[in-house]
Amino acid sequence: MNTMDFSAFDFSGRHVAVAGGSSGINFGIAQAFARAGARLTVLSRSADKVAAAAQQLEALGTQALGIAADVRQPEALERAFAQGAERFGPIDVLVSGAAGNFLASALDMSPNAFKTVVDIDLLGSFNVARLAHAHLRRPGACVIQISAGQAFTPTPFQAHVCAAKAGVDMLTQVLALEWGPQGIRINSIVPGPIADTEGLKRLAPTGDTMAAMAQRVPLKRLGRIEDISRMAMMLASDWGSYITGAIIPVDGGLSLTGPRDFTAAAAASKRESAP
Ligand code: COA
Ligand code: NAP
Repeated sequence: MNTMDFSAFDFSGRHVAVAGGSSGINFGIAQAFARAGARLTVLSRSADKVAAAAQQLEALGTQALGIAADVRQPEALERAFAQGAERFGPIDVLVSGAAGNFLASALDMSPNAFKTVVDIDLLGSFNVARLAHAHLRRPGACVIQISAGQAFTPTPFQAHVCAAKAGVDMLTQVLALEWGPQGIRINSIVPGPIADTEGLKRLAPTGDTMAAMAQRVPLKRLGRIEDISRMAMMLASDWGSYITGAIIPVDGGLSLTGPRDFTAAAAASKRESAP
């Protein structure tokens, strides 16, 4: 292959499955692959959200299937991946990004609150990878996990997400070793604070906390969804063909700046949710 061959970014006819793909960053990734010609299977809990997402993806000129499935329910995922593969063939690219978050100190978190996030982010990522595996193209498939800086930056008010995403990145590395010989690559993308997303709204619920977050980033701006979708596409393309088991920050340098302080944001989000 010519190393500067931009046809590597033509995904015509390929099958891309996105878990948690009905909104935000993951939907942005789905849109980028749709524009590049891929056929999409999009999963999330809400039947309305996945139907709307599939409709928007089809409006980009490709085929898309929206399936309601909770990543905490293995049987639902098994059915969803089988349905996707029946329609579009083996999965070339699997994006796993279903997640939940809220700001709460460990003492303000019930055991079920902690468990809920671990179940969605970590156990859900295991379920997605494990149950999609039968349908992954072998050799050649690429799995992309959407992690977060909390995986390696201890962050107050984020005990659940820190624990869960650290596990997600370790899962990425273990599966890279187990599935590498089958020709399956798997990497984590670690987004920084991405503008216009639910995730950022939950961590920076006011104008002040949002501005402080942007100022903390060495590149002095919030990320854009396309910053993440470009990295996803690069990893999935032939340009990424020797990359596996990598944890890749796409965060304007935020991960270099140490622990973040969500005290003001947590107080604001408590005020917002107060009756
Ligand atoms: N502070 C403390 N605990 C909270 C909380 C908060 N802000 N929000 C929810 N919880 C607790 C609940 O009280 C419950 O615990 P309990 O049974 O001991 O009372 C537990 O978390 C589960 O809540 P529930 O609403 O039943 O969970 P769910 O499965 O319906 O929803 C969430 C999962 C809570 C993560 C929800 O916020 C969600 O669906 N998020 C998806 C969108 C999102 O977070 N996007 C950003 C991605 S980074
Ligand atoms: P988002 O729009 O809320 O996306 C979360 C997606 O996951 C939605 O499509 C949601 O749809 C789905 N989902 C949630 N729980 C699910 C479950 N149990 N089963 C199946 N699907 C589920 O949030 P986002 O901010 O774009 O975040 C996307 C990813 O980026 C997450 O992995 C997050 O940790 C990561 N991230 C985000 C930021 C940021 O700045 N936003 C920074 C770092 C990392 P349903 O409601 O229909 O289920």
